[in-house]
Amino acid sequence: MTTGIQTAAYVFASILFILSLGGLSSIESSKRGVLYGILGMLVAIIATVFGEKAEGHVYIVVAIASSSVVGILLAKRVKMEAMPQLVAMLHSFVGLAAVLVGIGSYLDPETKTLINAEQSIHLTEVFIGVFIGAVTFTGSIVAWGKLEGKIMSKSLLFKGRHALNISLAIICIVLGVLFVRAADVYGINYLIVMTAIAGLIGFLLVMSIGGADMPVVVSMLNSYSGWAASAAGFMLGNDLLIITGALVGSSGAILSIIMCKAMNRSFISVILGGFGTVAVSSGTSTIEGEVTALNHEEVAELLKDAKSVVIVPGYGMAVAKAQYPIYEMVKELQKAGLMVRFAIHPVAGRLPGHMNVLLAEANVPYDIVMEMDEINDDMPSTDVVMVVGANDIVNPGAEDDPSSPIYGMPVIKAWKAEKVIIMKRSMSAGYAGVENPLFYKPNAEMLYGDAKDSIERILGFLRSK
Ligand code: TAP
Repeated sequence: MTTGIQTAAYVFASILFILSLGGLSSIESSKRGVLYGILGMLVAIIATVFGEKAEGHVYIVVAIASSSVVGILLAKRVKMEAMPQLVAMLHSFVGLAAVLVGIGSYLDPETKTLINAEQSIHLTEVFIGVFIGAVTFTGSIVAWGKLEGKIMSKSLLFKGRHALNISLAIICIVLGVLFVRAADVYGINYLIVMTAIAGLIGFLLVMSIGGADMPVVVSMLNSYSGWAASAAGFMLGNDLLIITGALVGSSGAILSIIMCKAMNRSFISVILGGFGTVAVSSGTSTIEGEVTALNHEEVAELLKDAKSVVIVPGYGMAVAKAQYPIYEMVKELQKAGLMVRFAIHPVAGRLPGHMNVLLAEANVPYDIVMEMDEINDDMPSTDVVMVVGANDIVNPGAEDDPSSPIYGMPVIKAWKAEKVIIMKRSMSAGYAGVENPLFYKPNAEMLYGDAKDSIERILGFLRSK
């Protein structure tokens, strides 16, 4: 393939990637967006593999074939609720790739022939690319560990951590200057020492971020992985990689800012590893009140007497796969003349849009699925709120307990309704590890058990009379 055709293919692939991002911005066009993305990637791979500079096709084919098998197996096996872990793991691969490309590009004999400004620019690209890659690599592994429950999700806050982070960053800058000026023999040493320090920075940054801020971290690492890919594009002289990396980097950053706004978090404070946040207790200011519970028949009776019902789904609904019987129950209630709506919190579940995807899977019509801001004002006029496997997103402590780690995060004000039914298996805390005063409110009732099983039993009672 000539360079001209390859360039044209790269431009075409870039356009497809931009269309793909555009398509992903709404539920209706998202499938088309995914297809554009797949097509763009196919064009990009073919144009690169059959390009003039490519060598060792046998190795490339073996690598693509074996990694495709691993990718397909992983994607088929992964559970919906484990998707963020998979995404975090994939980000770590991009980070590692940027580190390896950087070191490889530095050792490449061809780049050793560069002189003066060209040499300095190339070495700067290598240094920055490896730095971003190493931060992304270790940061993503810690994010994976926290999401998977292998590493404690609580933030690691110790005195002097900001001073330590800043000192490490300054050491990296000094190493960068030495690296760009260095004679060949020492260059690789500076690069390797910086890689280790950058890895430590990534580790410390993500370790200091608490469970409740993890959604922002995942999208922020997505952004970092984009910039790492872009840096690799500069090192390899590959325009498409530069463009694609920049698209991923900027869209990830925009998503992080949107999520921070939705959670009332300072973006700067989150990306700098909780800068400005103070060490907080686990939100255990004494909770007053008593926990009471209902059985399935009593809940069914309550629903029959209601006129308006709001369902707040959370992570537990995803685990239990309760969305299908929930929609059956909604249809039953609608037949009886009730107004039933869903209230979706922006970080309900474990990935952005998690609840919307699950409800769409069960064919729940979009017009009864409301965003948190659209429905919060209607809570006082709602008869029954059913909280299905949700916890942090309905925690009143976020509004009135300054000692709570999730204080300031907007929540669904379920407690303002006439009655709240909380469906979960036990009294255990949610993802942020914070106790929930909602369970102790006088208008709240627990309904213990697996969400799917509970809904099916309620449905049975609703249908039996
Ligand atoms: P959580 O606060 O995690 O609460 C989910 C609740 O579901 C748990 O308390 C659990 O209680 C219950 N549960 C689990 N399995 C169940 C089952 N089979 N049947 C019934 N209940 C079940 O979830 P949430 O309210 O959706 O809040 C999301 C949290 O995750 C937030 O803290 C958010 O910051 C964080 N997070 C979100 C994302 C994104 S982007 N959405 C990504 C990472 C983290 P039991 O064990 O007692 O049943």
